[in-house]
Amino acid sequence: MRKPIVAGNWKMNKTVAEARALVAELQPALAGVSGVEVVLCPPFTALAAVGAALHGTDLGLGAQNMHAEKSGAYTGEISAGMLRELGCSYVILGHSERRTLFHETDELVNKKAKAALAAGLRPIVCVGETLAEREAGQTEAVVTAQVGGSLAHLGAEGLLRTVVAYEPVWAIGTGRTATTAQAQAVHALIRRLLLNMAGGSVAEAVRIQYGGSMKPGNARELMSQPDIDGGLIGGASLEAGSFAGIVRGAVK
Ligand code: 13P
Repeated sequence: MRKPIVAGNWKMNKTVAEARALVAELQPALAGVSGVEVVLCPPFTALAAVGAALHGTDLGLGAQNMHAEKSGAYTGEISAGMLRELGCSYVILGHSERRTLFHETDELVNKKAKAALAAGLRPIVCVGETLAEREAGQTEAVVTAQVGGSLAHLGAEGLLRTVVAYEPVWAIGTGRTATTAQAQAVHALIRRLLLNMAGGSVAEAVRIQYGGSMKPGNARELMSQPDIDGGLIGGASLEAGSFAGIVRGAVK
């Protein structure tokens, strides 16, 4: 059985002091929760502080992006090895904000995923269609291309260490969530694509998160769907009570 995974993508929010305060609130709020993997993804500047605060707990640390190269003349960039050194076990790759605002392509996301895996990081690879694409009936084609391109040639072992996040772009930060049926349909599609890529046992083992305006009030229903294995949470991860409410919604 797949263990649900709930990750908080803090995006460009929280100073170091604010990050420490949030972790201090989260720890008691999550007390007693079991059977759910929880990962916090603060901005780069707060990784060290959050990592120190999480030391010895069950909560995991993740970054929101990385560069595909190991080192070199890439001003302003951060490598997978640097993230490992800070205690990260996960890295979010290909978030729609990166794809849209920073022009990341499936090819680049794929390069980053390979580099992350090679450094011992588990990638959380994001896919999802825009509103215009959904309205044009292109959801399946768009997600199929993103999954095929972003996850190409990772191999069964790489895929098993990868998490896929389905985040319909129109649901991110809009308060508009995909219906459980809409989300489940795309999650089932992603699992079929994984099956074609790597076979049934890999497809059954890979966790697929939903992201996009997930809140305590809708989390349990979404995550009770057969192919929805957790959530990637933006806005609601910035507050301990709402994030903990979502994590509790993932308990089977
Ligand atoms: P919201 O939860 O704020 O809609 O953001 C989702 C997201 O982009 C997580 O990566």
